[in-house]
Amino acid sequence: MINLNIVILAAGIGKRMQSSQPKVLHVLAGKPLLEHVLDVARALLPKKICVVYGHGGERVPRAINDNEIIWVKQEVQLGTGHALLQTLPYLDAEGVTLVLLGDVPLIKVDTLERLIAKAAKNNFVLLTTELDAPFGYGRIIRNQATGTIQAIVEEKDASESQLEIREINTGIMVLPNSLIHEFLPKLQNKNSQGEYYLTDIVAMAVEAGIEVDSAHPVHSWEVLGVNSKAHLAKLERIAQYEHANNLLKQGVMILDPSRIDIRGQLICGNNVEIDINCIFEGIVQLGDDVKIGAHCILRDVAISSGTTIFPFSLIESAEIGKSCHVGPYSRIRPGTRLSDESHIGNFVEVKNSSIGMGSKANHLSYIGDAIIGTKVNIGAGTITCNYDGAFKHQTIIEDDVFVGSATQLVAPVRVARGSTIGAGSTITRNTPEDQLTLSRSKQISITGWKRPQKNKT
Ligand code: UD1
Ligand code: CA
Repeated sequence: MINLNIVILAAGIGKRMQSSQPKVLHVLAGKPLLEHVLDVARALLPKKICVVYGHGGERVPRAINDNEIIWVKQEVQLGTGHALLQTLPYLDAEGVTLVLLGDVPLIKVDTLERLIAKAAKNNFVLLTTELDAPFGYGRIIRNQATGTIQAIVEEKDASESQLEIREINTGIMVLPNSLIHEFLPKLQNKNSQGEYYLTDIVAMAVEAGIEVDSAHPVHSWEVLGVNSKAHLAKLERIAQYEHANNLLKQGVMILDPSRIDIRGQLICGNNVEIDINCIFEGIVQLGDDVKIGAHCILRDVAISSGTTIFPFSLIESAEIGKSCHVGPYSRIRPGTRLSDESHIGNFVEVKNSSIGMGSKANHLSYIGDAIIGTKVNIGAGTITCNYDGAFKHQTIIEDDVFVGSATQLVAPVRVARGSTIGAGSTITRNTPEDQLTLSRSKQISITGWKRPQKNKT
């Protein structure tokens, strides 16, 4: 295999982003643009990866935090050629260098593998594509008779007729290291932008009798760059549509692939169904036959087989067992474990609690810092009072307990196995097993009482 170095250019200002954040740290599908490019670079198993950074300073290496990357600082941004020049001391004498751009995040591994394969005999190969709207990109100038590549002309330096050319420079290329070492130091900045253009190396190579070849991406969206927030939003939709279509191919029923957002990793079993407008963040695992209703948000969640999440539920850092029902409108907060066949219904909030097998809290409750046994029924409006203003306390509800509606359980408290709690009770002490416990004043009726009435004057 050919000796491969990779350089990612990521020092540019990104003025059109209108942001104080470095461009390459803007987030696409849940991770920074640069992280997308790095993932692709790592998949190619190069000998080394250099990242040229500059604008935004140390924020970029700090955000990425990977010790194997060679971080090369470009103190002033004098152009793409000047950026690559900074890496010269780190590039091998032998083999080739793949140049990637930190703001071109959707490039695919197999496209780059084809590009590198073409460069296998130490050739100079550009990744080019034809665009209907080539605006803003460098144009590929070919010899009209032979079709061979002669040069790249930047949009700002192009003549009227050159602007008509639809074949563009994606900015991604493979160069023999010997060629970089020989020609890069000779670049000049005599152009409309006063920059050292990496693209000028093409004409220099051609002049020296070196042939420049080209390869092409499968989809032209792979090489779209992010130069503004509008581009970022457009690429986000492309990335999401791709992700959704891959899941559809694996057999996941996504009701509308244009209305789903996956900002991390979504791992699905067989026969999973996902309704519209759901957001998945971090690592989400859905077992066989899981159904996710419309408008749910799931972040770092594992859901076992046969469970249904009904619409408008928000679930974070939780583990949900088999054949559970959650929602509609449930909020499951971090540290929650729902055992198999449990039900959490509408307007129920569960935090840092475990709910035993077959237990139910179907309506309007807050369950926090609680351990709930099996086959427990939590009546509507039940609340664990877990916070005394300074500390959190635990509520333990043992197996087969029935908690009547609108009960307050003042923690720390233990409701023993088989207890029944009368509706409307405030429970401040542990209850005995298998008995009815209630704490409420007796119901009275006042004879002769009249409702107040407004005087008619
Ligand atoms: C560049 C190419 C153009 C190509 C386009 C594809 C040149 C001269 N032009 O133009 O032919 O069609 O990409 O998207 O190469 N960067 C640095 N240091 C610098 C300048 C840029 O690291 O001094 C980095 C940027 O962070 C960015 C990449 O290089 O990741 C491209 O720079 P940019 O200014 O966006 O170049 P374009 O004008 O888009
Ligand atoms: Ca660009």
